[in-house]
Amino acid sequence: MSKRDLSPTVPPLPALPEPWRIKMVEPIVLRDREYRERRLREAAFNVFQIPSEDVYIDLFTDSGTSAMSDSQWAGMMLGDEAYAGSRNFYALQATVQSIFGFPIVLPVHQGRAAENLLFSTVVKPGSTVPNNSHFDTTRANIEANGGTALDLLATPGYDPSLEHPFKGNIDLDRVRDLFRGTPRGKIPLAMLTLTNNSGGGQPVSLENIKGMAALCREHGIPFYIDACRFAENAWFIKQREPGQQSRNVADIVREIFALTDGCLMSAKKDGLSNIGGFIAGRDRDLMESLKQRMLVIEGFPTYGGLAGRDLEAMSRGLREVLQEEYLRFRVEQVAQFGARLTALGIPILRPVGGHAVYVDAKALLPHIPQSQFPAQALVVALYREGGVRSVEIGTVMFGRDQGGEATVAPMELVRLAVPRRVYTASHLQYVAEILGGIGAQRTRLKGLRFTFRAPVLRHFTAQFEEIA
Ligand code: F0G
Repeated sequence: MSKRDLSPTVPPLPALPEPWRIKMVEPIVLRDREYRERRLREAAFNVFQIPSEDVYIDLFTDSGTSAMSDSQWAGMMLGDEAYAGSRNFYALQATVQSIFGFPIVLPVHQGRAAENLLFSTVVKPGSTVPNNSHFDTTRANIEANGGTALDLLATPGYDPSLEHPFKGNIDLDRVRDLFRGTPRGKIPLAMLTLTNNSGGGQPVSLENIKGMAALCREHGIPFYIDACRFAENAWFIKQREPGQQSRNVADIVREIFALTDGCLMSAKKDGLSNIGGFIAGRDRDLMESLKQRMLVIEGFPTYGGLAGRDLEAMSRGLREVLQEEYLRFRVEQVAQFGARLTALGIPILRPVGGHAVYVDAKALLPHIPQSQFPAQALVVALYREGGVRSVEIGTVMFGRDQGGEATVAPMELVRLAVPRRVYTASHLQYVAEILGGIGAQRTRLKGLRFTFRAPVLRHFTAQFEEIA
């Protein structure tokens, strides 16, 4: 802490401060440097192995890390823990019906359970499911059932420095070609992910969603949305899409989902909940099959692997997330965080997405070759210098060993995901200062090499040593 400037020039704060006041606090502790150094070594330089209590500011994920409101906590006390027909299920069903317009709602314990239910039912060997970009678990659930998960992101989404309002858009020409060139029945459904997490939390425009819906209708292909960050996406539409400024976010959401056949939701993101999710839709036969399957793998269809109190928290969170004062602050907070990093000379993906800032470690650390994991070196430095936890999205995560040959990832990114309603402007200011300090001494950072790696999903358990 001693290195921090005690009278810094304060960059502009968000236009309006946090639209809440704090009623309950959770202490966080900054361990001293020697302690952090020891922890890093014990964890073999893999922050997945560091206990949360030894992390000061945790920007690992925005999933399941939200602070719940007083109303959500009050709702938790009204949990009806009946096996069948809990009142909290009916509340959730009414919420989802009114926000999304789907008549049938099946709760699940988290997003990937919805993916498992849907894809194990509709995907067969030889099936293809297109999407702007599939999230890892979505891809894994399609591939586990013998299908191909196809990413058809439009070209702006692949350019990390291009300023474009809707870098989550799908390439509609490629979707049309796919639909025309694929035998009927081989595409069980088509998807869009709002916002596009794998592409930097970038939004999809309403026009693009409409175009996708029209193509799906023309070819008789069901259209589903991965709705994890639906409210943030709708907020970007209101801010950026011509003609949308005077609409309510709730109206935009209604219009989006009216164009689709159903959605998969992880309520751990825009449900403002610590656990939960659902699958909702209109196709009675399909939803009946999912219900039957659910009884085997997830739970009775009125609780779906959750306690009644969790259903209530989710139902209340889904309504709160549409409050525009909240969304304005949320998206602005993340954008301001990105602007602070830019002002400190830290290269980031542009424009800033809805839930996270992605640092371009290849540009920041050109002296570390990709084979020595520059993004992981930055993750290590963030913990070492400031007790900040982030996640590598680069060669550690996506590189492969193929026949003794090591491949590298297309980009070396560090994701700084911002949990909802958890950290204030001064927490993020602290992280920006730490990162600014690392940037100023960038040539001191060292590359890493593996001392252990598992054959699949190696980033979770990999062990490293620093290269002298
Ligand atoms: N779809 C998207 C777009 C996601 O970002 C996630 C989770 C899921 C599906 C799966 O949901 O975790 O509830 O099973 N993303 C988290 C993240 C893990 O850190 O980005 P889940």
